[in-house]
Amino acid sequence: MTESGAGSALILGIETSCDETAAAVVRDGRDVLSSVVASQDDLHAEYRGVVPEIASRAHAERVLPVVRRALADAGVTLAEIDAVAVGHRPGLIGSLLVGVAAAKGLAWSLGRPLIGVDHVHAHLYAGLLGGSADVERGTGSQSRPTRELFPALGLVVSGGHTALYRCESPIGITRLGGTIDDAIGEAYDKAAAILGLPYPGGPNLDRLAASGNERAHDFPVSRLDTGSLDFSFSGLKTAVLYAVRGVPGPGGVYGRDHTALDGGAKADLAASFQRAAVAAITLKVERALASPKRERRDVPRPAGPAARAPAPFRSLLVGGGVSANSRLRRDLTALCERHGLALRLPPMAWCVDNAAMIAGLGHHLWRAGRTAGLDLAAVPTTAC
Ligand code: KG4
Ligand code: ZN
Repeated sequence: MTESGAGSALILGIETSCDETAAAVVRDGRDVLSSVVASQDDLHAEYRGVVPEIASRAHAERVLPVVRRALADAGVTLAEIDAVAVGHRPGLIGSLLVGVAAAKGLAWSLGRPLIGVDHVHAHLYAGLLGGSADVERGTGSQSRPTRELFPALGLVVSGGHTALYRCESPIGITRLGGTIDDAIGEAYDKAAAILGLPYPGGPNLDRLAASGNERAHDFPVSRLDTGSLDFSFSGLKTAVLYAVRGVPGPGGVYGRDHTALDGGAKADLAASFQRAAVAAITLKVERALASPKRERRDVPRPAGPAARAPAPFRSLLVGGGVSANSRLRRDLTALCERHGLALRLPPMAWCVDNAAMIAGLGHHLWRAGRTAGLDLAAVPTTAC
């Protein structure tokens, strides 16, 4: 049974927005019966980044075998699936189109509803899937029902997105701010490339940072305007570039590169980058937590529901590839303990792109009647 008592439902989720081909079967928006992810890391490694044409071709080859495997792992047949959810935005258009076409074909042939899911919003849902860590005031309690976590502050930290959201429910999401240049994952990957670390850069930089001195370099932590909930990572990336290669001379030529650094110097740069990158996130999370409370105390409010100040957040939902970062997980855990806030961090497997989060959020959209027609479009941008 669902939390609302509405009965058991099986959703097939499909995800192909970037370079992972994924399918999953989720029961009642919570129990992950299977989650299959075919990574394309090996195909893109030599280019040190995702090549869109290679990605969409690989999705086309893999999507149906991955769906078959997800059904087999879950021990269910296609006929038992109640609805098909697909990540239809945002992402690489050629990649999205493959998943959307597969989902449409399956939904149509089964006579089941089709659900279009925003990939970024789905990242916020990853921590609400069964088995996710529920770190509450350091007790590690798993018991709090999902509805008691709302309104929640949502934080997405991925390779393509870095944003804060106000979440009234899993599907009632409003954007509070986001990056004005690079996403944090992109900054990690670029900093890793500058340091000569292997692809994918983020996890490798995270590992290297563990042995470095984070105070070795005083890299900038972007604040932007007072009260801004936006992020900026391009200045930090440039600071790392100059620390490694020196300031460019005439014609933009650098005098050295990462080969001039020994292991200890690289680790110090990695640790100093990580300190500044994570501090930029926790700073804005603190600001977002302060905003509604300040509004409640200071602003004289006229009567009427429309004029009512927003209720304070009860939890922090975090998602996206960079939520796997060791330092970010540690600092957000401490921050939430200080604020007495529940924290939902996905387990490692659901930090990066997966289809369980698509099926999970798809369940709530389906229950709310937000299904799509066969004209569902693949869209490169997020809904909000
Ligand atoms: O969410 P995701 O799989 O794809 C997007 O939707 O973008 O995120 C991938 C990003 C990459 O930039 C990767 O380097 C970063 O997440 N990432 C990490 C870590 N694990 C993955 N960044 C920092 N530390 C990590 N441990
Ligand atoms: Zn993602």
